[in-house]
Amino acid sequence: MGIGFLGAAYLWVKAAHIIFVIFWMAGMFIFPRYLVHHQEGLGDPGEEARWTLREKKLRHIILTPAMIAVWVIGLVLAVNAGLLAGIQGLAWLHAKLFVVFLLSGYHGWAIGYSKRLAKGVAGLSNRRLRMMNEVPALAVTIIVILAVVKPF
Ligand code: HEM
Repeated sequence: MGIGFLGAAYLWVKAAHIIFVIFWMAGMFIFPRYLVHHQEGLGDPGEEARWTLREKKLRHIILTPAMIAVWVIGLVLAVNAGLLAGIQGLAWLHAKLFVVFLLSGYHGWAIGYSKRLAKGVAGLSNRRLRMMNEVPALAVTIIVILAVVKPF
């Protein structure tokens, strides 16, 4: 596998990348909002059970599968672009990978937070939790600029 190995399939693979990015980000935008509602519903057993179930479904049906698909297809594109060939001009890709790595860490943090909420434990104040909601939007802004503008 090397630069340009995707050949005529390249644009199709890139389209698949963006489709799964949209699935993942749709989940990443709504999941932390669920956590806020869940935390505000602590103490009400009916609410707690409903949010726990909604979070579990969102994770299993959208969040985790979409993240895996984005990583797999993204790495295929990265090899196609020459990441493993050590070519020049891919600093934007290294920076993008770093921010996507951080976003994946946030994904893991949010899942851990959801599991603790399911046990009735709130780790952050409501205000702090709302602030954490902004992380995916910030990350996507940086990632898309790096991928599309390729400033370096
Ligand atoms: C998970 C790891 C990821 C890897 C390894 C990766 C890798 C890549 C690579 C190598 C390209 C360039 C394709 C090319 O021009 O030859 C690309 C394109 C793109 N990526 Fe990713 N990506 C990842 C995740 C993401 C995420 C999370 C987003 C957005 C939130 C994203 C948004 C985009 C966009 C919009 C393009 C199209 C840029 C263009 O060619 O016009 N990617 N990706």
